[in-house]
Amino acid sequence: MRFSTTFIMAAVAQAAAVVRQTEGFAPGADGKYTISAPGIKAQFIPYGATLTNLFVRDKNGDDIDVVLGYDDIDYYPVDPGHPVYNAIPGRYANRIGNGKYSIDGVEYTTQKNDGDNTLHSGTNNWSFRFWEVTALSEDSITFSILDKSNSSQGFFGDVKSSVTYSVTDSTWKIKITADSLDQKTPILLTQHTYFNLDAYRNPATSLIWDHTLHLPYSSRYLEADQGALPTGKILTAAPGSINDFASSANLKFGHSRDDPKFQGNCGANGACEGYNGYWLIEDAPEDAVVLTLASEFSGVKAELRTDQPGVVIYSCSWMDGSADVKKSTQGLGEKNNKVVKSSCVAIEAQDYPDGINKPEWGRLEKQIFGPGERYVQETSWTFGLV
Ligand SMILES: *[C@@H]1O[C@H](CO)[C@@H](O)[C@H](O)[C@H]1NC(C)=O
Ligand SMILES: *[C@@H]1O[C@H](CO)[C@@H](O)[C@H](O)[C@H]1NC(C)=O
Repeated sequence: MRFSTTFIMAAVAQAAAVVRQTEGFAPGADGKYTISAPGIKAQFIPYGATLTNLFVRDKNGDDIDVVLGYDDIDYYPVDPGHPVYNAIPGRYANRIGNGKYSIDGVEYTTQKNDGDNTLHSGTNNWSFRFWEVTALSEDSITFSILDKSNSSQGFFGDVKSSVTYSVTDSTWKIKITADSLDQKTPILLTQHTYFNLDAYRNPATSLIWDHTLHLPYSSRYLEADQGALPTGKILTAAPGSINDFASSANLKFGHSRDDPKFQGNCGANGACEGYNGYWLIEDAPEDAVVLTLASEFSGVKAELRTDQPGVVIYSCSWMDGSADVKKSTQGLGEKNNKVVKSSCVAIEAQDYPDGINKPEWGRLEKQIFGPGERYVQETSWTFGLV
């Protein structure tokens, strides 16, 4: 096993963890693990089990990097914004209302780190931990983590989780498992992937609104309050209305940009522009494409398949433009060199957020796992041209 000197020096703070966790599976000189297949190349780091780069073919035949991230792997743990770029938050992703949930009549209190709510399990979430590399081949990598009882406040019982990322013919596959080892505990996981299918290289705009977005099986979505917490109500988007991405394959992501309700559509008393919500995937045939994100500029189209019952869509309203596009594979030098508001979209296949507190949705069985029970998610993205 060999590490470059710079990698070892830069990793001093986390040296023990990094060295132990990559034993037998050395990354490249830049600290990233690379897997590839025809038409696709993906790179990862153990921190957060994070996808750092995803190269797919654009309409000019060039390989472009369509996810957000950084060249420098040591920036991930210290990034003050830490938007959970393409990592696995856990053991319970997204929000838990009022930092509370109950199992078998016992109430548990979780850390309120997002207003009145818990986000991504609080400040010891999985996306901030170094995972172990437990398998590696040319087209596949597995990361594993042991989450000890109460290591994130209010989540009891040990959980062991693994994510296997693999690539095949322009497709990126994600398989996540998590085993509850001791006692009943909530588990809800996702790959928190941020896309800009133009790699910030469209000279006309770095905003995401000219992408098209189609969710053919998702006319219903969860109503959310001003803190982006689901209220419990399930609403139906009328064709052409602000939250409609079901009625046509040609809807621009920003089709409702001029609607006065667009500003404030994701809450924060009007401060959140666009989308930060959950769309149900209903009555989709097995293995159907349930979401297509595409860009005319690059010509790239990304098709989602998942066994999950819905998807979180977040249009990067909280990117305030102070963060640089810290990738040599993205931006246009002087132009498009900041991650500005609404310049990306996070798409997260997962179970209903805060389903542990909404028994009326009937998700408890899918979100609470007792000893010996296993959480499984299988999701994939296939890339092609529009
Ligand atoms: C996750 O944990 C880190 C490290 O403790 C913390 O800084 C961050 O705020 C947490 N994430 C969220 C979404 O709260
Ligand atoms: C769980 O962890 C918190 C700190 O995060 C601590 O205050 C609490 O006492 C712990 N609970 C148990 C039952 O160990």
